[in-house]
Amino acid sequence: MSKKEAVYEIKHLQLDQYHLSLNEALFHNANGYIGARFDFEEGYPEQYHYVRSQYINGFYDFTPMKQAEKLFGFVTEKQTMLNIADTQSIRLYLDGEPFSMFSGTVLSSRLTLHMDKGVTVRHVVWRSPQGKEAEITITRMTSFEQLSLFTIEYEVLPLNFSGRVLIESSHNGNVLNYINPNDPRLANEGHQYLTPLSCEIKDGASYITSVTSTSGLEVCSCVKNVLLQKSRQEFSINDHNHAISKYKTHALRGETIRFIKYCVFCDSIRYPSCKKQSGLELKKALAVSLPELYRKQEEYLSEFWNYCRIEIEGNDQFNQAIQYSLYQLIQSVGKDRFSNIAPKGLSGDGYEGHFFWDSEMYAQPFFTITNPALSKNLIEYRYATLDMARENARILGHDRGALYPWRTIMGRECSGYFPAGTAQYHINGDIAYSIIAYYLATKDLAFIQEKGAEIIFETARLWIETGNFYQGKFHINNVTGPDEYTCLVNNNYYTNVIARYHLSWAVKIYHLLKTFPSFTLLREKIDLREEELLEFQKAADQMYLPYDEELKINPQDDSFLQKSRLEIETLPRDRFPLLLHYHPLYLYRHQVCKQADTLMAHFILEDAQDEETILNSFHYYEKITTHDSSLSYCIFSIVAARLGMVDKAFEYFQHSACLDLQDKHHNTADGLHIANMGGNYMSIVYGFGGFRLKEQGISLAPVLPRQWSAYSFKIHFEDSRLLVRVTADRCTFKLENGTAKKITVYGQEYLLENTLEIARPALPLISKGKRGETN
Ligand code: BGC
Repeated sequence: MSKKEAVYEIKHLQLDQYHLSLNEALFHNANGYIGARFDFEEGYPEQYHYVRSQYINGFYDFTPMKQAEKLFGFVTEKQTMLNIADTQSIRLYLDGEPFSMFSGTVLSSRLTLHMDKGVTVRHVVWRSPQGKEAEITITRMTSFEQLSLFTIEYEVLPLNFSGRVLIESSHNGNVLNYINPNDPRLANEGHQYLTPLSCEIKDGASYITSVTSTSGLEVCSCVKNVLLQKSRQEFSINDHNHAISKYKTHALRGETIRFIKYCVFCDSIRYPSCKKQSGLELKKALAVSLPELYRKQEEYLSEFWNYCRIEIEGNDQFNQAIQYSLYQLIQSVGKDRFSNIAPKGLSGDGYEGHFFWDSEMYAQPFFTITNPALSKNLIEYRYATLDMARENARILGHDRGALYPWRTIMGRECSGYFPAGTAQYHINGDIAYSIIAYYLATKDLAFIQEKGAEIIFETARLWIETGNFYQGKFHINNVTGPDEYTCLVNNNYYTNVIARYHLSWAVKIYHLLKTFPSFTLLREKIDLREEELLEFQKAADQMYLPYDEELKINPQDDSFLQKSRLEIETLPRDRFPLLLHYHPLYLYRHQVCKQADTLMAHFILEDAQDEETILNSFHYYEKITTHDSSLSYCIFSIVAARLGMVDKAFEYFQHSACLDLQDKHHNTADGLHIANMGGNYMSIVYGFGGFRLKEQGISLAPVLPRQWSAYSFKIHFEDSRLLVRVTADRCTFKLENGTAKKITVYGQEYLLENTLEIARPALPLISKGKRGETN
């Protein structure tokens, strides 16, 4: 794939159930506000199962969470992201024969995701059962320029006939969410969440307004069809929730018929009247031509790629995989304070659209160092839900501070199974970590003062509330770390080390801000006293970090090494992922990890341990990690690269990079793995590139996998953008814009004023210590 052509394409569409479902997610369109799974406009034969959903990021309903034994504080209601009105249907009849790829003959077909243009194109040359041939090209776009807008352009070129054409376009408010009672990663009960309030035709457009059953939110979708040929048009409304528009025209052989479907979506979270806003949005969309909308889409993406493009030379497959990953990140990221990044983005119902730590620890790093404005939005979302995090802390018995929910949409906890959910208190540290990273990348102290600091102080308090001093050390007991195969433990290394970082940064931020006059307001608002800061510092200084003298590793927690190891190599392949085949208690009693936990800590807070400990931990955890979570391989890749084990890093990267494109977890149809996409990015920039963002500034220590001839990436730091290119013998650093920057490369400091060329050592000097292998 060349620089000019960022595409992901399938030639000859396979029409079996597996591929159709997979493509629904792989080729979905989204812009961070709306998302539409990729479905055939004309539908599928009856025996096919499909999840033809469209979503709005952060738009939800409440639904009861049944607890068999309801103990105090258990969650009884969760939120779920809703499937909103279906605007995708378009049926085409050529002289009465319905177009379907399942009838007649598909002479050729191709499905292309244009990542530079921001559109998905299905191109089919079809021969009807009675021999009429037509070329059909369908282009779908969710606009980055106008977030409410989804367009479908439908072009029909009759190849060997002239005749009658009927186009039937529908807009259906009668929709349900997808469920799967056998998979804990999906909702298991179906509800009628949306009830249509009105379905009407106004000025040639259909408007369906629906209300949610419990949250009382409204959504309006509005559809306007435009057929550019002379035609006869009819509208009808069925069952008060289904608008159908029919266009009859005459087609001439060799002359293309163009039909455009403009669909806009607005919700009452963002707009006081979503119906009125839909009308305005439709007007806005119609005010410019479709080619102009396409041009703006391309312009938006050209800017996007300009600040983040990664090029891998000498390996097209991974180059495409990484571009696909970055494209999915921009498709998924919420662009306002009402939304964040769901683990499946807007490509599927998996995890019900909840926001997890995935955002802060996997996706946000990409935005922080390429497009900090979007990173700031994500923090805005957490700020907007801070009061609910305070309420959550009270439910859990904490008198002070805030505890962010493990999974949520509007701010309240949604995890039904608290040992692998609510107990993951590290979410507080993760959110603080991402705010500190945003500050380190931008030095935007004004925003920290306005919003970031309040989150950091309130969440830091929770560590004091949760932990306690015991024999001179600060212990944090009964929490769960990132690894969900080990729950409710004492002193999870990841949690303690991030809590230490968090607490010491709370103190630093206090000192950074204390001379600002307006800081007094915040201090008063949250009643923050000097003594409390002393306690933060004391807890940080005395934080207990488990260490095993014999193995010279950090055990995942206090009791981890006492358990017997689950020999994962000996388990049958069909028992993976373990969570679907073993009772949780069985897993908790063994040394077995679903995902990187201590290794994750060794990546994000590497200075907490020497290189030898990290190396030992790497080898230790490698043997007991199943990578049943898509968040895992990338972290192993990064740590391997940091330790100089480039071949191993590459091996892990290989597992991670094409996880969705090759459906390695067998559930891509339920939605893409967005944290994994962020992890792929980090594997290159933080892993092979050795990039680090710390208080001392930015540093790099690039290595080059032997399978690649070169790679390049970009970093936004403070007011500057840097281009980094790594080849077999050198690294080139170019200041693309902004002021000169100090950068540390292989431990040596340089001033980057223009271009800097540094010879690449065969063995990168990151720090002293043992290494596994060289590159
Ligand atoms: C992982 C979590 C992650 C969640 C959503 C789970 O399988 O264990 O770490 O937050 O998926 O992606």
